[in-house]
Amino acid sequence: MREIAFLLNGELVELGQVDPTRTLLDWLRETRGLCGTKEGCNEGDCGACTVMVTDARGARALNACILFLPQLHGRAVRTVEGMAGPGDKLHPVQMALIDHHASQCGFCTPGVVASLVAAHVNGRRDFDDVLAGNLCRCTGYAPIIRAAEATADAPVPDWLAEDAARAAKLAQGSKRQPLRDFAKWYQSNPEAVLVSGATDVGLWVTKGLRDLAQVAFLSHVDGLDRIEINEETVLVGAGVTIEDLRKAVAPLHPGFAELLRRFGSAQVRRAATIGGNIANGSPIGDGPPALIVLRARLHLRRGQARRAIALEDFFLDYGRQDRADGEFVEAVSFPRQHDRLRCYKLAKRFDQDISAVCGCFSIAVEDGIVAEARIAFGGLAGVPKRAANVEAALVGRPWDEDTIGETWDAWAEDFTPMSDMRASADYRLDAARNMLIRYFLEAAGAVTRVLEVKP
Ligand SMILES: Cc1cc2nc3c(=O)[nH]c(=O)nc-3n(C[C@H](O)[C@H](O)[C@H](O)COP(=O)(O)OP(=O)(O)OC[C@H]3O[C@@H](n4cnc5c(N)ncnc54)[C@H](O)[C@@H]3O)c2cc1C
Ligand code: FES
Ligand code: FES
Repeated sequence: MREIAFLLNGELVELGQVDPTRTLLDWLRETRGLCGTKEGCNEGDCGACTVMVTDARGARALNACILFLPQLHGRAVRTVEGMAGPGDKLHPVQMALIDHHASQCGFCTPGVVASLVAAHVNGRRDFDDVLAGNLCRCTGYAPIIRAAEATADAPVPDWLAEDAARAAKLAQGSKRQPLRDFAKWYQSNPEAVLVSGATDVGLWVTKGLRDLAQVAFLSHVDGLDRIEINEETVLVGAGVTIEDLRKAVAPLHPGFAELLRRFGSAQVRRAATIGGNIANGSPIGDGPPALIVLRARLHLRRGQARRAIALEDFFLDYGRQDRADGEFVEAVSFPRQHDRLRCYKLAKRFDQDISAVCGCFSIAVEDGIVAEARIAFGGLAGVPKRAANVEAALVGRPWDEDTIGETWDAWAEDFTPMSDMRASADYRLDAARNMLIRYFLEAAGAVTRVLEVKP
């Protein structure tokens, strides 16, 4: 196990042999006595464990409960204890939370401080999004938002501004593994568990209590977090976070970007990667249906051998993907041209929830006739899947409500969803049918989203 070096509240920490799946949260509380960072859910949902992590790419709020110590290498961590400056001068955000009575029982407060301080460093003012991953059971959020707004224009304190430069220096001194070397290593060690953002793997440890014998951290590998956009194609490395992907696709595929805004919370989106979202093969992942509609190709690599396949062909069956031993996801690519992709995520909550059904549509109409239809769903089958029969029932037909009504039976031919705690099978199928109607209405200019209704 390589040595881990990071800054903790401004001080250099160097660790030799550590259990690679020891979480930052446990280590902070049990080894350093930094108990300000709280354990609520221990699965990335509540934000009580939020800390601020800074590296060359900037500051971000992350959940310490699903962050393994090696992921911190070359980075700077600030816990609630480290937000105050010299002489215990409180950070403006902390001061404002007091002034606005924004802490009652106080359990959420350290995490709220970390989220708001990271937002403050980044100049963000979309506080509803910033705080979607911080559960507060007491305040009703209004005083927290008021405190955030009150400090939005305050300068970033010097003691925090230095973190980025110091972390960058630390990272420079610790070389990342070249991609080629990693590919060779993984080919010879195919039993190793790959860890990208650990927003899935973290739960295998904290909730599944699994003992992962050998792990490889992809954040230590060079070249997996690139985004290349040329005239025709967008190529996104497997290590690109959901948040960075969201920003990159927003001008090209706004429907996809809007879906990604509802992916987990700010903390999850800044840790989770698109490679992990695809490779986990989940039938309810939000990335794959949208990417399938976008005709995405998946770039796989085993040693020096590379291949590219249509993303939809990667998902063979529930829990089974077209991936050989020692092969990993290197990137995903899709056309850059602006299109009519619309994505509908149906979940029990607007924010921070896994989809019960996620439907993605792109339908081209020429002279009133459907020229092409691409429709893919998560949550309706054991894998993310195209609605091939519905597509066939639409193409060549007039784009009107009669045609849409006639697709009714095709939905049941395409999908036999299951019932679980998120939704019943009937509800899922009805919701999918209704999403096509919604797409039709939106294409005709109707406003169907509460968020788009303007006074
Ligand atoms: C609170 C919470 C909310 C969530 N909300 C959503 C949501 O709204 N929508 C959604 O789709 N998901 C959601 N997720 C699930 C999760 O965040 C995503 O699946 C995420 O994209 C996984 O990426 P990761 O980098 O964290 O993967 P990891 O946990 O690091 O890895 C996941 C799997 O992929 C493998 N893997 C990772 N990278 C590669 C690679 N390059 N090549 C081959 N295998 C690889 C790992 O070995 C593992 O099997 C949520 C998770 C949490 C904890
Ligand atoms: S303890 Fe709930 S998100 Fe970490
Ligand atoms: S103040 Fe009690 S949970 Fe937020």
